Amino acid sequence: MQILTELSGLRAALGQWRRAGQSIAFVPTMGNLHAGHYSLIAQARQLADRVVASVFVNPTQFGPNEDYARYPRTPEQDAAGLAAAGCDVLWLPGVDTMYPFGADHAVSMHVPGITDVLDGAARPGHFDGVTTVVSRLFLQVQPDVAIFGRKDYQQLAVIRYLVRDLAFPIEIIGADIRRDDDGLALSSRNQYLSAEERAIAPLLYRTLRSMRGRLLAGESRAKVEEEAAAALQAAGFQPDYAVIRTPALEVPGDGASGPRVALLAARLGATRLIDNLEFDLP
Ligand code: PAJ
Repeated sequence: MQILTELSGLRAALGQWRRAGQSIAFVPTMGNLHAGHYSLIAQARQLADRVVASVFVNPTQFGPNEDYARYPRTPEQDAAGLAAAGCDVLWLPGVDTMYPFGADHAVSMHVPGITDVLDGAARPGHFDGVTTVVSRLFLQVQPDVAIFGRKDYQQLAVIRYLVRDLAFPIEIIGADIRRDDDGLALSSRNQYLSAEERAIAPLLYRTLRSMRGRLLAGESRAKVEEEAAAALQAAGFQPDYAVIRTPALEVPGDGASGPRVALLAARLGATRLIDNLEFDLP
Protein backbone atom coordinates (compact mmCIF):
# COMPACT_ATOMS: atom_id res chain seq x y z
CA MET A 1 0.00 0.00 0.00
CA GLN A 2 1.24 3.48 -0.86
CA ILE A 3 0.80 6.26 1.71
CA LEU A 4 0.46 9.59 -0.11
CA THR A 5 0.36 13.04 1.45
CA GLU A 6 0.78 15.27 -1.63
CA LEU A 7 -1.65 15.82 -4.52
CA SER A 8 1.13 15.28 -7.07
CA GLY A 9 1.77 11.77 -5.76
CA LEU A 10 -1.93 10.95 -5.60
CA ARG A 11 -2.45 12.13 -9.19
CA ALA A 12 0.48 10.04 -10.43
CA ALA A 13 -0.92 6.87 -8.83
CA LEU A 14 -4.46 7.53 -10.09
CA GLY A 15 -3.19 8.37 -13.59
CA GLN A 16 -1.38 5.04 -13.88
CA TRP A 17 -4.49 3.11 -12.91
CA ARG A 18 -6.71 5.14 -15.23
CA ARG A 19 -4.38 4.56 -18.19
CA ALA A 20 -4.56 0.81 -17.44
CA GLY A 21 -8.36 1.04 -17.54
CA GLN A 22 -8.78 0.21 -13.85
CA SER A 23 -11.78 1.32 -11.78
CA ILE A 24 -11.42 3.01 -8.38
CA ALA A 25 -13.46 2.63 -5.18
CA PHE A 26 -13.05 5.21 -2.43
CA VAL A 27 -13.66 5.10 1.34
CA PRO A 28 -13.34 8.47 3.11
CA THR A 29 -12.69 8.34 6.88
CA MET A 30 -11.39 10.38 9.79
CA GLY A 31 -9.14 7.54 10.95
CA ASN A 32 -8.96 5.67 14.25
CA LEU A 33 -10.25 2.81 12.16
CA HIS A 34 -12.31 -0.09 13.51
CA ALA A 35 -14.11 -3.12 12.07
CA GLY A 36 -16.90 -0.85 10.76
CA HIS A 37 -14.44 1.07 8.60
CA TYR A 38 -12.70 -2.12 7.48
CA SER A 39 -16.03 -3.59 6.34
CA LEU A 40 -16.28 -0.59 3.98
CA ILE A 41 -12.80 -1.39 2.61
CA ALA A 42 -13.81 -5.04 2.09
CA GLN A 43 -16.87 -3.88 0.16
CA ALA A 44 -14.73 -1.47 -1.88
CA ARG A 45 -12.46 -4.38 -2.85
CA GLN A 46 -15.49 -6.16 -4.33
CA LEU A 47 -16.62 -3.13 -6.30
CA ALA A 48 -13.53 -1.94 -8.17
CA ASP A 49 -10.00 -2.84 -9.28
CA ARG A 50 -8.35 -0.35 -6.95
CA VAL A 51 -9.18 0.93 -3.47
CA VAL A 52 -8.29 4.35 -2.08
CA ALA A 53 -9.02 5.22 1.57
CA SER A 54 -8.54 8.69 3.02
CA VAL A 55 -7.80 9.60 6.60
CA PHE A 56 -8.39 13.27 7.37
CA VAL A 57 -9.78 14.69 10.61
CA ASN A 58 -11.73 17.49 9.00
CA PRO A 59 -11.73 20.70 11.07
CA THR A 60 -14.64 22.30 9.19
CA GLN A 61 -17.18 19.69 10.33
CA PHE A 62 -16.51 20.15 14.06
CA GLY A 63 -18.33 22.83 16.06
CA PRO A 64 -16.30 25.22 18.25
CA ASN A 65 -17.12 23.22 21.40
CA GLU A 66 -16.73 19.80 19.82
CA ASP A 67 -13.91 17.25 19.96
CA TYR A 68 -11.69 18.25 16.98
CA ALA A 69 -8.53 18.66 19.09
CA ARG A 70 -9.00 15.45 21.05
CA TYR A 71 -10.46 13.32 18.23
CA PRO A 72 -8.43 10.07 18.39
CA ARG A 73 -5.54 10.05 15.87
CA THR A 74 -3.84 6.67 15.31
CA PRO A 75 -2.08 6.99 11.92
CA GLU A 76 0.33 4.04 12.21
CA GLN A 77 -2.33 1.63 13.39
CA ASP A 78 -4.69 2.85 10.63
CA ALA A 79 -2.04 2.38 7.91
CA ALA A 80 -1.28 -1.18 9.07
CA GLY A 81 -4.98 -2.07 9.21
CA LEU A 82 -5.70 -0.59 5.77
CA ALA A 83 -2.76 -2.44 4.20
CA ALA A 84 -3.99 -5.71 5.75
CA ALA A 85 -7.53 -5.01 4.48
CA GLY A 86 -6.28 -4.72 0.89
CA CYS A 87 -6.27 -0.96 0.41
CA ASP A 88 -4.00 0.21 -2.46
CA VAL A 89 -3.53 3.86 -1.50
CA LEU A 90 -3.93 5.68 1.80
CA TRP A 91 -4.59 9.34 0.99
CA LEU A 92 -3.39 11.30 4.02
CA PRO A 93 -3.56 15.01 3.19
CA GLY A 94 -2.48 17.67 5.68
CA VAL A 95 -4.83 20.56 6.54
CA ASP A 96 -2.78 22.85 4.24
CA THR A 97 -3.25 20.48 1.32
CA MET A 98 -6.99 20.13 1.90
CA TYR A 99 -7.51 23.85 2.62
CA PRO A 100 -4.78 25.86 0.82
CA PHE A 101 -6.34 29.18 1.92
CA GLY A 102 -6.91 27.86 5.45
CA ALA A 103 -9.97 26.10 6.86
CA ASP A 104 -11.59 29.46 7.74
CA HIS A 105 -11.27 30.75 4.16
CA ALA A 106 -12.43 27.67 2.29
CA VAL A 107 -14.95 27.62 -0.53
CA SER A 108 -17.85 25.97 1.24
CA MET A 109 -20.75 23.70 0.32
CA HIS A 110 -24.28 23.84 1.66
CA VAL A 111 -26.96 21.23 1.02
CA PRO A 112 -30.35 22.84 1.80
CA GLY A 113 -33.37 21.29 3.50
CA ILE A 114 -32.23 17.89 4.65
CA THR A 115 -29.42 19.45 6.72
CA ASP A 116 -31.88 21.58 8.74
CA VAL A 117 -33.09 18.65 10.87
CA LEU A 118 -31.69 16.11 13.39
CA ASP A 119 -27.86 16.26 13.43
CA GLY A 120 -27.96 19.33 11.21
CA ALA A 121 -30.08 21.11 13.83
CA ALA A 122 -28.06 19.74 16.78
CA ARG A 123 -24.69 20.50 15.15
CA PRO A 124 -25.00 23.77 13.18
CA GLY A 125 -22.60 23.87 10.21
CA HIS A 126 -21.61 20.21 10.61
CA PHE A 127 -22.98 19.04 7.27
CA ASP A 128 -21.55 22.09 5.48
CA GLY A 129 -18.15 20.88 6.69
CA VAL A 130 -18.87 17.29 5.65
CA THR A 131 -20.01 18.24 2.14
CA THR A 132 -17.15 20.74 1.80
CA VAL A 133 -14.53 18.10 2.53
CA VAL A 134 -16.26 15.25 0.69
CA SER A 135 -16.52 17.40 -2.47
CA ARG A 136 -12.79 18.11 -2.26
CA LEU A 137 -12.00 14.43 -1.68
CA PHE A 138 -14.16 13.46 -4.66
CA LEU A 139 -12.34 15.95 -6.90
CA GLN A 140 -8.95 14.78 -5.62
CA VAL A 141 -9.59 11.03 -5.91
CA GLN A 142 -12.15 11.02 -8.76
CA PRO A 143 -13.44 7.55 -7.87
CA ASP A 144 -16.02 5.52 -9.79
CA VAL A 145 -17.73 4.48 -6.57
CA ALA A 146 -17.60 5.73 -2.98
CA ILE A 147 -18.75 3.83 0.11
CA PHE A 148 -20.38 5.39 3.18
CA GLY A 149 -21.74 3.66 6.29
CA ARG A 150 -25.48 3.65 7.03
CA LYS A 151 -24.44 4.31 10.66
CA ASP A 152 -24.32 7.99 9.70
CA TYR A 153 -27.74 7.79 8.09
CA GLN A 154 -28.27 11.51 7.57
CA GLN A 155 -24.72 11.98 6.28
CA LEU A 156 -25.37 9.34 3.61
CA ALA A 157 -28.62 11.07 2.61
CA VAL A 158 -26.84 14.44 2.41
CA ILE A 159 -24.03 12.95 0.27
CA ARG A 160 -26.57 11.39 -2.11
CA TYR A 161 -28.23 14.82 -2.50
CA LEU A 162 -24.84 16.49 -3.11
CA VAL A 163 -23.82 13.93 -5.74
CA ARG A 164 -27.13 14.10 -7.56
CA ASP A 165 -27.37 17.90 -7.45
CA LEU A 166 -23.79 18.51 -8.66
CA ALA A 167 -23.81 15.49 -11.00
CA PHE A 168 -20.63 14.04 -9.53
CA PRO A 169 -20.01 10.99 -11.78
CA ILE A 170 -19.69 8.74 -8.72
CA GLU A 171 -21.90 5.88 -7.57
CA ILE A 172 -22.66 6.10 -3.83
CA ILE A 173 -22.98 2.84 -1.89
CA GLY A 174 -24.41 2.60 1.64
CA ALA A 175 -22.80 -0.10 3.85
CA ASP A 176 -24.50 -1.93 6.75
CA ILE A 177 -23.85 -0.89 10.35
CA ARG A 178 -21.28 -3.00 12.21
CA ARG A 179 -22.01 -3.55 15.91
CA ASP A 180 -20.35 -5.02 18.97
CA ASP A 181 -21.84 -8.27 20.31
CA ASP A 182 -24.00 -6.30 22.75
CA GLY A 183 -25.47 -4.21 19.92
CA LEU A 184 -23.51 -0.98 20.35
CA ALA A 185 -22.67 0.41 16.89
CA LEU A 186 -18.89 0.61 16.42
CA SER A 187 -17.63 4.18 16.56
CA SER A 188 -14.31 5.91 17.14
CA ARG A 189 -16.09 7.89 19.87
CA ASN A 190 -16.93 4.74 21.90
CA GLN A 191 -13.46 4.87 23.42
CA TYR A 192 -14.36 8.14 25.18
CA LEU A 193 -16.85 6.17 27.31
CA SER A 194 -16.01 5.25 30.90
CA ALA A 195 -16.57 1.59 31.89
CA GLU A 196 -19.85 2.62 33.51
CA GLU A 197 -21.01 4.53 30.41
CA ARG A 198 -19.94 1.69 28.12
CA ALA A 199 -22.18 -0.65 30.13
CA ILE A 200 -25.22 1.62 29.55
CA ALA A 201 -24.46 2.43 25.90
CA PRO A 202 -26.11 -0.70 24.37
CA LEU A 203 -29.45 0.74 25.51
CA LEU A 204 -29.34 2.85 22.34
CA TYR A 205 -29.75 -0.17 20.07
CA ARG A 206 -32.26 -1.80 22.43
CA THR A 207 -34.30 1.41 22.32
CA LEU A 208 -34.23 1.42 18.51
CA ARG A 209 -35.51 -2.17 18.40
CA SER A 210 -38.21 -1.37 20.91
CA MET A 211 -39.26 1.68 18.84
CA ARG A 212 -39.55 -0.56 15.78
CA GLY A 213 -41.50 -3.24 17.72
CA ARG A 214 -43.97 -0.80 19.18
CA LEU A 215 -44.59 0.95 15.89
CA LEU A 216 -45.15 -2.40 14.18
CA ALA A 217 -47.58 -3.26 17.01
CA GLY A 218 -49.62 -0.19 16.07
CA GLU A 219 -48.61 2.37 18.69
CA SER A 220 -48.59 6.02 17.61
CA ARG A 221 -45.34 7.53 16.39
CA ALA A 222 -45.56 10.46 18.83
CA LYS A 223 -45.96 8.13 21.83
CA VAL A 224 -43.14 5.83 20.70
CA GLU A 225 -40.77 8.79 20.22
CA GLU A 226 -41.68 10.39 23.54
CA GLU A 227 -41.22 7.18 25.53
CA ALA A 228 -37.94 6.34 23.81
CA ALA A 229 -36.50 9.72 24.80
CA ALA A 230 -37.82 9.26 28.35
CA ALA A 231 -36.27 5.77 28.65
CA LEU A 232 -32.88 7.10 27.50
CA GLN A 233 -33.09 10.01 29.89
CA ALA A 234 -34.01 7.72 32.81
CA ALA A 235 -30.89 5.64 32.08
CA GLY A 236 -28.61 8.70 32.22
CA PHE A 237 -28.49 9.78 28.56
CA GLN A 238 -29.22 13.32 27.42
CA PRO A 239 -31.10 12.67 24.17
CA ASP A 240 -30.86 15.16 21.26
CA TYR A 241 -33.58 13.30 19.38
CA ALA A 242 -35.45 9.98 19.26
CA VAL A 243 -37.58 9.88 16.13
CA ILE A 244 -39.19 7.79 13.41
CA ARG A 245 -38.73 9.23 9.93
CA THR A 246 -39.10 8.30 6.26
CA PRO A 247 -35.87 7.53 4.33
CA ALA A 248 -35.88 11.20 3.21
CA LEU A 249 -35.99 12.12 6.93
CA GLU A 250 -39.50 13.53 6.64
CA VAL A 251 -42.16 13.07 9.30
CA PRO A 252 -44.33 10.16 8.13
CA GLY A 253 -48.10 10.60 7.93
CA ASP A 254 -50.10 8.91 10.71
CA GLY A 255 -51.32 5.50 9.57
CA ALA A 256 -49.23 5.59 6.37
CA SER A 257 -47.14 2.52 5.51
CA GLY A 258 -43.71 2.29 3.86
CA PRO A 259 -40.01 2.29 4.67
CA ARG A 260 -39.05 3.88 7.98
CA VAL A 261 -35.93 4.63 9.96
CA ALA A 262 -35.73 5.06 13.73
CA LEU A 263 -32.93 7.49 14.63
CA LEU A 264 -31.33 8.34 17.96
CA ALA A 265 -28.71 10.82 19.09
CA ALA A 266 -27.85 11.13 22.76
CA ARG A 267 -25.05 12.31 24.96
CA LEU A 268 -23.66 9.99 27.59
CA GLY A 269 -21.45 12.16 29.79
CA ALA A 270 -19.35 14.16 27.31
CA THR A 271 -19.76 11.66 24.46
CA ARG A 272 -22.37 12.07 21.75
CA LEU A 273 -23.52 8.79 20.19
CA ILE A 274 -25.81 8.21 17.19
CA ASP A 275 -27.49 5.10 15.85
CA ASN A 276 -30.41 4.11 13.64
CA LEU A 277 -32.52 1.16 12.53
CA GLU A 278 -34.24 0.81 9.15
CA PHE A 279 -37.45 -1.21 8.79
CA ASP A 280 -40.66 -1.50 6.79
CA LEU A 281 -44.06 -0.50 8.16
CA PRO A 282 -46.58 -2.67 6.28
P1 PAJ B 1 -15.80 8.52 10.07
O1 PAJ B 1 -16.62 8.81 11.27
O2 PAJ B 1 -14.36 8.12 10.24
O3 PAJ B 1 -16.52 7.39 9.26
C1 PAJ B 1 -16.04 6.98 8.01
C2 PAJ B 1 -17.08 6.07 7.37
O4 PAJ B 1 -17.22 4.88 8.16
C3 PAJ B 1 -18.46 6.73 7.31
O5 PAJ B 1 -19.05 6.47 6.05
C4 PAJ B 1 -19.20 6.04 8.44
O6 PAJ B 1 -20.61 5.98 8.24
C5 PAJ B 1 -18.58 4.66 8.39
N1 PAJ B 1 -18.78 3.95 9.67
C6 PAJ B 1 -18.42 4.38 10.91
N2 PAJ B 1 -18.81 3.50 11.84
C7 PAJ B 1 -19.43 2.48 11.19
C8 PAJ B 1 -20.06 1.26 11.60
N3 PAJ B 1 -20.14 0.91 12.89
N4 PAJ B 1 -20.59 0.46 10.64
C9 PAJ B 1 -20.51 0.83 9.32
N5 PAJ B 1 -19.95 1.96 8.87
C10 PAJ B 1 -19.41 2.78 9.80
O7 PAJ B 1 -18.01 9.89 8.58
C11 PAJ B 1 -16.91 10.41 8.59
O8 PAJ B 1 -15.77 9.81 9.10
C12 PAJ B 1 -16.66 11.81 8.04
O9 PAJ B 1 -17.81 12.59 8.22
C13 PAJ B 1 -16.24 11.83 6.54
C14 PAJ B 1 -17.33 11.24 5.64
C15 PAJ B 1 -14.93 11.04 6.37
C16 PAJ B 1 -15.98 13.29 6.10
O10 PAJ B 1 -15.02 13.88 6.90
